[in-house]
Amino acid sequence: MAMTINIEPLSPVLGASIQGIDLRNPVDLDSQELLYQTFINHSVLCFPGQELTAKDQLRFANLFGRGDGGDRVKRRDNKQRRTGERGMMYVSNIRENGQLIGVLPDGEMMFHSDGAHRESPYRATTLYAIKIPSRGGNTLFSNLYAAYEALPQSTKDKIENLVTRVVYDYEAVDRADTIAADPVLPRAQHKLVKTHPDSGRKTLYLSRLMTQDIIDIEPSEGEELLLELFDHSEKPEFVYSHEWRVDDLIIWDNRCTNHARTDFPPDEQRMLRRYTVSEPEAPTQF
Ligand code: OGA
Ligand code: MN
Repeated sequence: MAMTINIEPLSPVLGASIQGIDLRNPVDLDSQELLYQTFINHSVLCFPGQELTAKDQLRFANLFGRGDGGDRVKRRDNKQRRTGERGMMYVSNIRENGQLIGVLPDGEMMFHSDGAHRESPYRATTLYAIKIPSRGGNTLFSNLYAAYEALPQSTKDKIENLVTRVVYDYEAVDRADTIAADPVLPRAQHKLVKTHPDSGRKTLYLSRLMTQDIIDIEPSEGEELLLELFDHSEKPEFVYSHEWRVDDLIIWDNRCTNHARTDFPPDEQRMLRRYTVSEPEAPTQF
């Protein structure tokens, strides 16, 4: 018997808030199935008021696929690599002895989908709020099913078989930086329209931060189309803005949502703990 959990929509756009489950304890199989189905139905789940260790969060991540819980890779100079390691990360602007303790430190961040630069992107990402500034630092989630479905049929037909090149450059703040990106940065090709394997629904798969261009079409036409689709997918009617509270645990589906972050005061601390979830059959290296 699945435990009685309470599911409330977070917004008309996407997301659900889940109460009545204590994630410090293991979750039985029926409840796991219920949570996974709820995740597929709502794309973003928030579990408020959870008091979780890293181990609890990784066990939670493992309910949704293969939690990326390997050890962090240490560099020879003994500093943790800022990107690319598997396992737990902090998303934080906090510095210790002048060194950032986390990744993605500052202010605003453009819309993107985690791991889109990999052939097998992260299925999901989990973030757990430890320190939250008094204002700003919201995470925005956009519903890429809804964005796809709202396109005119002529656009749907035009983009059905297009393939994009996606590049990893989380530091980029301007699209021109991404386009000019160093050729050694990790990259992959993806269909612009994908079918979600669990829901069977079609979704856009593109983002302003990571999608570089569309292959096999004239570059200026491709760029115009991309800019139009970025603007479309970021329209307020497809976006939910999450105002974090300490002890919120969120999991989002990278296969049908994008996320971004709003600016926050640089003199305030923001710290979240992050584990990604990979497809079970994905290769284990970066
Ligand atoms: C991430 C990310 C946004 C945020 O962890 O992948 O994009 O709001 N985080 O910190
Ligand atoms: Mn991200």
